[in-house]
Amino acid sequence: MASPRPTGTEKLPALPRGTLGSVTVADGGETAPVSVALVGAGQRGIEVYGDYIFRHPEAARLVAVAEPDPTRRALAVRLHRLPPDRAFTTWEHLLSHERLADALIIATPDRVHVEPALRALALGYHILLEKPIATTRDEVLQLQQAAMESSGSVTVAHVLRYTEFFATIRRLLDEGRIGRLVSIVHIENIGFWHFAHSYVRGNWRRAETASPMILAKACHDFDLIRWFAGRPCRSVSSCGELTYFRPENAPPGATERCTDPCPVEPTCPYSAVEIYVRRFAHRTGWPGSVITGDPRPTARLQALRESPYGRCVFRCDNDVPDHQVVTLEFAGGITATLIVSAFTAENTRTVKLMGTHGEIRGHLGRGEIVTYPFSSGLPLVLHTQGGEGHAGGDEGLMQAFLNRVQLLRTGAEAPAAITSLSDSVDSHLMAFAAEESRRTGRIVHLDR
Ligand SMILES: NC(=O)c1ccc[n+]([C@@H]2O[C@H](COP(=O)([O-])OP(=O)(O)OC[C@H]3O[C@@H](n4cnc5c(N)ncnc54)[C@H](O)[C@@H]3O)[C@@H](O)[C@H]2O)c1
Repeated sequence: MASPRPTGTEKLPALPRGTLGSVTVADGGETAPVSVALVGAGQRGIEVYGDYIFRHPEAARLVAVAEPDPTRRALAVRLHRLPPDRAFTTWEHLLSHERLADALIIATPDRVHVEPALRALALGYHILLEKPIATTRDEVLQLQQAAMESSGSVTVAHVLRYTEFFATIRRLLDEGRIGRLVSIVHIENIGFWHFAHSYVRGNWRRAETASPMILAKACHDFDLIRWFAGRPCRSVSSCGELTYFRPENAPPGATERCTDPCPVEPTCPYSAVEIYVRRFAHRTGWPGSVITGDPRPTARLQALRESPYGRCVFRCDNDVPDHQVVTLEFAGGITATLIVSAFTAENTRTVKLMGTHGEIRGHLGRGEIVTYPFSSGLPLVLHTQGGEGHAGGDEGLMQAFLNRVQLLRTGAEAPAAITSLSDSVDSHLMAFAAEESRRTGRIVHLDR
């Protein structure tokens, strides 16, 4: 259905800040906070989710943690005043007990998601599961089966659906503002420094120890494209490779580490000194917090001399592609292109949705969405609220997850999670298909 002819000055009602996907808990007086156990007290676990719980004692309480790193574990114990017998070294220890909490957050490395999730589902936990939900197709399907048999549930940390930006785009589509959706062009602009941090020097540099780049970085994007298309994907083709961050591209004279000192460092955009000591000098959290907990320049320089994060980007043991393009065909003739690239100035997502009666262009970093209706030709500009942590998505996710668990634990009816496991299964299968197509050069048909 085409939308009514817009006036050009029309204002859309803003989505209520921070209430995306939330459910209202029946007002029967004081409600006890949701008890939460945390597996993996790293950047996501303690800095994002632990921090949210710390700031919202009325909504949640951290009651147990599993973390092998003694410093991180001690931090969680201290901040959340955990008794010693509720601090475990690994997920296996925590989950060898009967259920210790209403909810469990799994924020371990990519390859340590599926096993704790399966065990936690058997114990009936309501799980907030970090992406990727699993790193192989078989594991994804195994998880789906286990969730169907469990009294617990899985909410996937696809944070972007909880941003006002993407929720507004979804609403514009639902309102028929551009008629029938026909094509999508979605760009994941990783940002040159972010790619160097995570995919050249950092934890996601090798597919075998983390997961394929297209899964690790773009499973959120597949999830969004699937959400916009509103139907299953039929076929996937993809190409891409590791083009630039290779030894043969090292400038003459470049040394092993940026701190050696390296004669190229002062002009190299990928210099670790530039990224961690200059560019993010005043930011105490990510990405600097990944290399050392001490934000002082001297401490960061020392960390660069010793850690993988000080290595020359042309001399790392990375193997994941630095650019990849995916073409997707959905039932009903909708087509989509996803571009994922290291070589972007900005670290943001941009999207263009083309419909029979108009076009939507969005820039997440600016929170800007412009709708171009064909009939009037008058663009409608919307500015959405962003915020810290994935443009406010981290906060929205936690709020929606805790509200839902609050209902579920009393046996009340709760709406499906905005980022349910079943939707995520679809988008993960699209990502696996993209990697298969990139490697084999063949089109992968998901509907056969
Ligand atoms: N939703 C998002 O937008 C988003 C953003 C960034 C990262 N992630 C995902 O979140 C996950 C965690 O990423 P991170 O950046 O916090 O990594 P991290 O390395 O900072 O944290 C992972 C933590 O898990 C711990 N751990 C490892 N093995 C464990 C075990 N057996 N039992 C318990 N704990 C264990 C590690 O010691 C570490 O502290 C990854 O899968 C990543 O892909 C999601």
